[in-house]
Amino acid sequence: TVLPIQDTFNRPLRDLRISVTDRCNFRCSYCMPAEIFHERFQFLQREKLLTYEEITRLVKVILRLGAVKLRLTGGEPLVRQDIEVLVAQLSQLDGVEDLAMTTNAFLLGKKAQQLKDAGLRRLTISLDSLDNDVFRAMNGGRADVDQVLAGIKAAQNVGFDQIKINMVVQRGINDHTMVDVARWCRDEGHILRFIEYMDVGTMNGWKLDDVVPAKEIAERIHDAFPLERVPRNYKSETALRFAYADGAGEIGIIASVTQPFCGNCSRMRLSPEGQIFTCLFAAAGTDLKTPLRDGASDDEIEQIIRDTWGSRIDRYSEERTALANTRDKVEMYYIGG
Ligand code: GTP
Ligand code: 5AD
Ligand code: SF4
Ligand code: SF4
Repeated sequence: TVLPIQDTFNRPLRDLRISVTDRCNFRCSYCMPAEIFHERFQFLQREKLLTYEEITRLVKVILRLGAVKLRLTGGEPLVRQDIEVLVAQLSQLDGVEDLAMTTNAFLLGKKAQQLKDAGLRRLTISLDSLDNDVFRAMNGGRADVDQVLAGIKAAQNVGFDQIKINMVVQRGINDHTMVDVARWCRDEGHILRFIEYMDVGTMNGWKLDDVVPAKEIAERIHDAFPLERVPRNYKSETALRFAYADGAGEIGIIASVTQPFCGNCSRMRLSPEGQIFTCLFAAAGTDLKTPLRDGASDDEIEQIIRDTWGSRIDRYSEERTALANTRDKVEMYYIGG
């Protein structure tokens, strides 16, 4: 039985985003700049990570509180060993209406079939440019765009349809390649979402000037392929939606800087170490791993989550100021996209 919970602004809990690792095979400058995340950077030791059984147990409890959508993220979820085992466990749970993954697709060629077989329903793939030089510069020189395109192709071949593509837009870095990516996604039938570059974490040196506002993104795409606004699919959707006037699909723009959407935010995040975070920009989480490993019952864990969500006041993107980067925040590579 589901006993839905609401926070202090009456926002329900609907989505759980599960970060399964803090590791990644890319070094995107907006997330894990290579200068900081070098070869000797200390990532979490394995015993600190929740096991798949522990994740599944927590998810079961969270489903009792109203969550219906699950998304696996990282770091890069495909670098965690046998991730399809977790997918299979989660896809069996009652009450899961949606099960998705956000990935950079580097390992997707190897994993697509196993993920599909395990019951993963949807994929969102990060692709910041089709220009290989731009792409390599943005991912810290870890991958060529062809490898990612091959991963996407593999996913299509095993029957993932409606693949979404995420492109983080940084002015002067990749914004000149927006229309190319839009054209490619139109041709391939993917839903492209442009994401305003955000001040996540504390390491990416974010400046407001680096953000291309949603309005400008929409205008620049509209000039190439005319667009029409369409309403959101569901209340807490992050993206503003636009359809191509010629019927060739749609795009989204995630405008968390210039048009924040905290008012309907129903997302909770579970960290690789078993803490829950009530905002992408939270300074700290609430530990569930310790009670879990100390033998707490499901009801006791449920009460901790209930209390945490019940006292939730987060609306960071609506409060963001010029001083944003001086605040303590969880890192994006740790809590996921
Ligand atoms: P659907 O389930 O297909 O609707 O996708 P989604 O809206 O969950 O999108 P996805 O997981 O692809 O998220 C896209 C990007 O939006 C993330 O990588 C983040 O950059 C950003 N994002 C997602 N959730 C939040 C949020 O709660 N706050 C902010 N500020 N940004 C978010
Ligand atoms: N700004 C916006 N989106 C980001 N992501 C990571 N860092 C940032 C940032 N600074 C998101 C992107 C990427 C996903 C894994 O995380 O959507 O595709
Ligand atoms: Fe890795 Fe994704 Fe962060 Fe890039 S944005 S470094 S692919 S976790
Ligand atoms: Fe939700 Fe925090 Fe993002 Fe606002 S900034 S939409 S509260 S996660």
